[in-house]
Amino acid sequence: MENERLVEPQLTEEDYKEVSLRPKWLEEYIGQDKVVNKLKIFIEAAKNRSEPLDHTLLSGPPGLGKTTLAGIIANEMGVNLKVTSGPAIEKQGDLASILTNLSADDVLFIDEIHRINKSVEEILYPAMEDHALDIIIGKGPSARSIRLDLAPFTLIGATTRAGMLTSPLRDRFGVLLNLELYDVKSLVEIIIRSARILDIPIDKEGALEIAKRSRGTPRIANRLLKRVRDYAEVKEEGVITTKVAIKGLNMLEIDKYGLDNIDRKIILTMIEKFSGRPVGIDAISASIGEDRGTVEDVYEPYLMQIGFILRTPRGRVATKMAYDHFGIEYKEN
Ligand SMILES: Nc1ncnc2c1ncn2[C@@H]1O[C@H](COP(=O)(O)OP(=O)(O)OP(=O)(O)O)[C@@H](O)[C@H]1O
Ligand SMILES: [Mg+2]
Repeated sequence: MENERLVEPQLTEEDYKEVSLRPKWLEEYIGQDKVVNKLKIFIEAAKNRSEPLDHTLLSGPPGLGKTTLAGIIANEMGVNLKVTSGPAIEKQGDLASILTNLSADDVLFIDEIHRINKSVEEILYPAMEDHALDIIIGKGPSARSIRLDLAPFTLIGATTRAGMLTSPLRDRFGVLLNLELYDVKSLVEIIIRSARILDIPIDKEGALEIAKRSRGTPRIANRLLKRVRDYAEVKEEGVITTKVAIKGLNMLEIDKYGLDNIDRKIILTMIEKFSGRPVGIDAISASIGEDRGTVEDVYEPYLMQIGFILRTPRGRVATKMAYDHFGIEYKEN
């Protein structure tokens, strides 16, 4: 049922083609000014000292540009990028072989680093701290540990759940960068840039219409752009104007705020089932049958950004805006 979810922020098969849309340099990276400004300084400083960049942790909801940034960092540092992911590294030996194969100053990108298993993670500690690999040879009483030197490298970890990292791992990152949902203005720029690369005729107002319904997420913006293009080519003259964008998005059943079924369920559950009283994230997740982490990382940030949900000390509440959007009469609690 959710296969067709156009506003799915996770990477889907079609998005692999998005590779060509990925900015390669910081100059091309739109928005996230705080993150970009810090990175510029850290990269320049590291280059001046001819050292690799400090280990860097990128956190934030899916589809905001973590993988893109890892590629940019490697490009800007002028080094190779090796890519793996937490769940792909099953055994200590897998990670040991990745680490021993790194050349000096390489960037090792570990996606979903919070999903790395505990015994593998322990190999990372000395690797990050001392560029060393401790391996145990033999078994039982005759077992001994030897230490191998590794080439200096930069670890870039990406996670949608910074809170799920163990503290020994988190503490070993020198640079912690948190990506936030994009504002509409940045999304407009991203859409116009992507349209230029994909050769899609669009005007600024058309881009604005798509941006407003992209849930603050570039990956969704790019996906909606491609689907609206299909609509424009088949049903209209091919150019994405406001009118065409609105018609296309309505046909795709993307509402004014880009909300999907689950967003609606969350809000309606809060309003109807819990009668608008403050409610905890566990209660919300349980009553809509979604994983708590997904609700917290994927749905809630956007609903908070558009002002539909408010966090209070007593729990989450739906705002008047949310009631209005669903045409339900608002009662002060
Ligand atoms: N700042 C940006 N400027 C322009 N395009 C961007 C930007 N950030 C992301 N994109 C676009 O969004 C797409 C998704 O980005 P990316 O794959 O890096 O996200 P991610 O954070 O790694 O997501 P995930 O958590 O699912 O791995 C990219 O292909 C790129 O086209
Ligand atoms: Mg990614």
